[in-house]
Amino acid sequence: MDHFQYRGGILHAEDVPLPRIADKVGTPVYVYSRATLERHAQVFAAALEGAGNAPPLIAFAVKSNPNLAVLKVLQRQGFGADVVSGGELARALAADISPDKIVFSGVGKTRAEIEYALEQDIGQFNIESREEGRELAQLAADRGLVAQAALRINPDVDAGTHDKISTGKADNKFGVPLSRAADVFTELAALDGLSLRGVAIHIGSQLADLAPLETAFAKIGGLVETLRANGHRITHVDLGGGLGVPYRKGEVLPSPAEYGAMVKRMTADLDVALTFEPGRVIAGNAGVLLTRVVRVKEGVNDPFLIVDAAMNDLARPALYGAWHDFDAVAPDGRTMTANIVGPICETGDTFAMGRDTDAFVAGDLGVFRTAGAYGATMASSYNSRGFVAEVLVSEDDFAIVADRIAAAAIMDAERVPDWLA
Ligand code: LLP
Repeated sequence: MDHFQYRGGILHAEDVPLPRIADKVGTPVYVYSRATLERHAQVFAAALEGAGNAPPLIAFAVKSNPNLAVLKVLQRQGFGADVVSGGELARALAADISPDKIVFSGVGKTRAEIEYALEQDIGQFNIESREEGRELAQLAADRGLVAQAALRINPDVDAGTHDKISTGKADNKFGVPLSRAADVFTELAALDGLSLRGVAIHIGSQLADLAPLETAFAKIGGLVETLRANGHRITHVDLGGGLGVPYRKGEVLPSPAEYGAMVKRMTADLDVALTFEPGRVIAGNAGVLLTRVVRVKEGVNDPFLIVDAAMNDLARPALYGAWHDFDAVAPDGRTMTANIVGPICETGDTFAMGRDTDAFVAGDLGVFRTAGAYGATMASSYNSRGFVAEVLVSEDDFAIVADRIAAAAIMDAERVPDWLA
């Protein structure tokens, strides 16, 4: 459930009519709903209450929506953060997320990033390789520190999602293959500088079925038994994120409650503290991309609805062929079939072909739904379009939580060297 609803024929974010935001901030603009973020956080946490032998750590996947105000909303809900770069770590800290609730994932943590995370005394490093584990142990030991860590396992499970967002198949770059996990664990657990306390997995994103997760959790359960039989003390298991969300009206995905029930069934005997890294399921439906129709151009078949948002603002359709519902802010009951495109000069800048949608004329406002996760964060300035503004709504109030960065400001950071002047 989200808080983007029609009232008096006008789409609102909570109590704010979207045209008011368009007038004040311009378009395109991402609009997030605080009440929706809070609701999703609470539903997810409630579904996992009682899982594991201690209150679970829910570490929001910062990559899905790193906006500081969004992080602050979730920090106030007791969430931690799953970060994958020094930049994300800095954001989590800036949002007052306590370092012990921060988990650091990613295959390419640089030496500088590891040092930064060690200095901040974060809660857990999710080590993705033998090589990374050795380096982390050395850097920690050199400073007389002990890094809390888990070993990320690649369980070789097909998550059944888009190839580009699958992370748990054997030939993906993530984690240590299950077949080598016991060996790598034994080597790393013996190193000074590391307290290797558990294992982690994350098999992919936008999972529409719980079965692959269940298979992966079963494999992890078996590994925990093996590791304990080998004499290791396993106190923590990180089950990652990945739960999908509906992108199309009428689409039904596994609910957080169903996910929670499955987690509890699969981990009942594990006797560990659990960590989760949800991103999309928290932020996805808590945001829309508000855009204005520039012009409606006749086409050979369907007309082209040219909007002022483009693939640089919302990359998912161009990158993954992803579907985002597109709705009028003030629908009049009429409909049309249209190709919805942005202004960028490549055919990839297409949000939808032959889409049945509300009727639009030039100047009308529309929204791409479910744009709160992997939206603004994946923006680029391609075609020198600058970066979109972001707004957070709370009841009848709203605030600009990220300024629009004009193309001119980006150009200001560039220099023509003297020898070319
Ligand atoms: N944990 C790790 C280690 C991850 O790599 C990810 C996502 C998550 C947690 C959060 O997954 P979620 O709960 O959001 O599914 N840009 C793509 C999605 C990439 C996801 C990458 N990793 C998209 O727009 O669909």
